[in-house]
Amino acid sequence: MQKSVPLDLRGMQVFKELLTPEEQKLMVSALRDVVREAPLFHPITPMGKRMSVRMTSAGRFGWITDAKGYRYSPTHPDGQAWPAMPEIVTKVWSEVSGATRAPESCLINFYDAEAKMGLHQDRDEQDFSQPVVSISLGDEALFRVGNETRGGKTESLWLSSGDVVVMGGASRLLYHGIDRVKPGSSGLLPKGGRINVTLRVVS
Ligand code: SIN
Ligand code: MN
Repeated sequence: MQKSVPLDLRGMQVFKELLTPEEQKLMVSALRDVVREAPLFHPITPMGKRMSVRMTSAGRFGWITDAKGYRYSPTHPDGQAWPAMPEIVTKVWSEVSGATRAPESCLINFYDAEAKMGLHQDRDEQDFSQPVVSISLGDEALFRVGNETRGGKTESLWLSSGDVVVMGGASRLLYHGIDRVKPGSSGLLPKGGRINVTLRVVS
């Protein structure tokens, strides 16, 4: 990890290529171990819509959604506790978050060529003084950031493999999402696609 001065995107800090190609490979391998224990699943929103990303988690809590709503759960939908959070992931949190607490949740989202994520706020956590740290791996993705309420002007930035975004302080509750992924823009994942890892303090 070579920490350089981050870009500012409406108060979010964007560390371009924080992770070296070697670190990215190691992280993918650690995430594959997690997925082997806690398989990716297609989440269904409370409105009954299937999200286009597939997801799983590591750590004390995982984020899930189903007919009962959006929430953190100590168990995978299959009933088992989530696997431990990989150390290589918590190291990124220590390096960039500036947080006083350790992350309790590591959400892993997999985007295929068609997947996207609508504009939303991260607000299922208890303590908004703790940041969200987001790691991008694999194909590039167009990240859009808006405001604290729906609507208004937005700004976009392509996130590439190894980039890390810290959403903290005044940017913690900004609307954000992924418009699209650029297939074939990275060779990190043999079958293509993008992984986004988000680390959060939940309780
Ligand atoms: C998210 O906000 O949950 C995902 C952001 C990303 O995929 O970069
Ligand atoms: Mn989010």
